[in-house]
Amino acid sequence: MSVLKVRVWRGGADGAFQAFEVPRHSSQTVLDVVIHIQRRLDPTLAYRYACRVGMCGSCAMTVNGRPRWTCRTHVDKVAASGALDISPLRNLPIIRDLVSDMREFFDKWAAAKGQYYGARTRADDFSRVSPLSEKRKAADAGIECIGCGVCYAACDVVAWNRDYLGPAALNRAWTLVNDERDTQRPERLRAVAGDAGCHACHTHMSCTKRCPKQLSPTASIAGLKRAVAKAAMDGEL
Ligand code: SF4
Ligand code: SF4
Ligand code: FES
Repeated sequence: MSVLKVRVWRGGADGAFQAFEVPRHSSQTVLDVVIHIQRRLDPTLAYRYACRVGMCGSCAMTVNGRPRWTCRTHVDKVAASGALDISPLRNLPIIRDLVSDMREFFDKWAAAKGQYYGARTRADDFSRVSPLSEKRKAADAGIECIGCGVCYAACDVVAWNRDYLGPAALNRAWTLVNDERDTQRPERLRAVAGDAGCHACHTHMSCTKRCPKQLSPTASIAGLKRAVAKAAMDGEL
């Protein structure tokens, strides 16, 4: 049986890689490798996952230098040579081993006004938004984000500027700016217009290349830049 040479991050920010050997199987995912290590070789290994089918996003880690969902990444695709390095998501504090602290990621989501604010009550009829509406199409393009943090870990601007709201929060803001039912458009545009907002994006597109849902935060951020500029010219900000 062939063997994978795996190095796994242990400890906090000042930790180090620890080497393991894991039997290689067909259709084996990177998450299978991590689970094998924790169940068979070292039960103290800390990591996070839930659905195992690409729905929750909690298994995101850095695999051979790139952020990925480990449950949807086959070893054969990323470790042709039989060597795997697995570490926590970049650009976030490390809690322990493979677990990043997602708090600042979701704090930025809130800072970009990522919550929906409607005006209707239970007594009102449903809102009707035409599927043909341009705003509806723009909102639909980004709505499938599951908040996994892969794009955030891929973004070099987040690495240089820790205040930058980042691709996921800005993508979320753009879906809400286009939600015809939402009541907080000017407040949201104001929230993303500052130095740490959409104008800090350098359009590197790493977020778009790495998003496992094939979303384009880069396009959403470009939309926000246009909307902020127009709102400023119209005196709305
Ligand atoms: S935009 Fe994509 S990569 Fe970023 S958090 Fe959402 S699903 Fe994950
Ligand atoms: S396009 Fe913008 S948000 Fe996306 S990785 Fe590049 S700098 Fe970051
Ligand atoms: S465990 Fe849910 S996306 Fe991987």
